[in-house]
Amino acid sequence: MKVQKCELYNDHFQNYKVYGIPKAQLVIADIPYNLGKNAYASNPAWYVDGDNKNGESNLAGKEFFDTDKDFRIAEFMHFCSHMLIKEPKESGKSPAMIVFCAFEQMQMVIDYAKKYGFNGYIPLVFIKNFSAQVLKANMKIVGATEYALVLYREKLPKFNNGGKMIFNWFNWEKDGNEIPKIHPTQKPVKVLKRLIEIFTDVGDCVIDPCAGSGSTLRAAAELGRKAYGFEIKKDFFKEANERMLSEIRIDLLAYMQAEQKQQQQMRIM
Ligand SMILES: C[S@@+](CC[C@H](N)C(=O)[O-])C[C@H]1O[C@@H](n2cnc3c(N)ncnc32)[C@H](O)[C@@H]1O
Repeated sequence: MKVQKCELYNDHFQNYKVYGIPKAQLVIADIPYNLGKNAYASNPAWYVDGDNKNGESNLAGKEFFDTDKDFRIAEFMHFCSHMLIKEPKESGKSPAMIVFCAFEQMQMVIDYAKKYGFNGYIPLVFIKNFSAQVLKANMKIVGATEYALVLYREKLPKFNNGGKMIFNWFNWEKDGNEIPKIHPTQKPVKVLKRLIEIFTDVGDCVIDPCAGSGSTLRAAAELGRKAYGFEIKKDFFKEANERMLSEIRIDLLAYMQAEQKQQQQMRIM
């Protein structure tokens, strides 16, 4: 499979024009949940060694990361309306965005998307067999799901279902040790790959404007899609480059070198 471009920028996605990146078939974005200082509520990490007898840990009353607030959704929708390919004449080729968000954010995302011409949506649910809300386990039903919206303009997005029905729920398959753990809200590469395969073909472009650990870029690149992303936090950006995307980069470099060599040999002949 041809190794495609894979670029992560340490910048606000709002500055996308500077980078001249190609338009995308799919935008995947896990937008900040605006949890602010309650990010670890109901999570054992709030206490030292997960036990409230030990007192609060340094994560008590902290944000997941200091950019998990004041997310500018209108600017995000503007970005998507510019960076997704135009609506093609034929059906079955239209672009889409997938927005992971909290259940409470879904209606707001649907309403903003409409203002920017994304009139269609499909809600997705991801089912986990674990919950972070361990401290509430004997008090109430605990959360073990994630949510996302597939948003599109008019025509249904490109759809590779292999002739099979695809339900609007997916198992939240965790990654193994082959994928480094970098970000507190990191999405599994396995789950992202499943979505990318459904909505894009090899060679298509996938963009993640809020890339965090670079998980979407890794998933897209491993599937032979072009991958671009933005991440404002320097630490996440650095770790994504060094630990999540380094092997992909090595493959890309080796592929480019082999191609150059082949061209040189052809010129000599
Ligand atoms: C919910 S996390 C994404 C996690 C990611 N899906 C993963 O699997 O690692 C959102 C990320 O968006 C970044 N972010 C927030 N606003 C941004 C902006 N305007 N431009 C680029 N990145 C942004 C945050 O720093 C944060 O790392």
